[in-house]
Amino acid sequence: MSEQSTISKFFEKDHDRLDELFKTFQQLKRSDFPKAKEAFKAFKSGLQRHIVWEEDLLFPLWENKTGMSYSGPTPVMRNEHRQIGQLLEAIHGKVAAQNPDSDQEEEALLDILGPHNRKEERALYPAIDQVAGPEDRETVFQNMENIPEERYKVCCGQQ
Ligand SMILES: [Fe+2]
Ligand SMILES: [Fe+2]
Repeated sequence: MSEQSTISKFFEKDHDRLDELFKTFQQLKRSDFPKAKEAFKAFKSGLQRHIVWEEDLLFPLWENKTGMSYSGPTPVMRNEHRQIGQLLEAIHGKVAAQNPDSDQEEEALLDILGPHNRKEERALYPAIDQVAGPEDRETVFQNMENIPEERYKVCCGQQ
């Protein structure tokens, strides 16, 4: 299989892209707020899209292939997604109010997101690549493109 077509490679790359956007937000929020806000908006909608991809497509694929839905790693990951979502909203509230003092919420988010992504990259994604055939992966990639934007694109109003 080509590197690019694995679940691991694709989703790791998306983690890295999102990490960079969040770093940009943190670095610029006290010097160039409009640019920081742009980065945060891209981060928030990108992470929400990433989570929808995982919960609607990737985790069900794993659950169907292995029969592990109530046991196994996916309920834990879904639960962490809820915590990540709450912290995203907390930071979003401050960004929307032009308030850069979200350091605590940012730290709390990174405390969950860092280990969460590492667990996915080291264990879950490679395991999914093991149980999924090339046509399963192809279906996931195709269905990812078909998820409507309204599922994940809600951030900082229209602007
Ligand atoms: Fe995840
Ligand atoms: Fe992920």
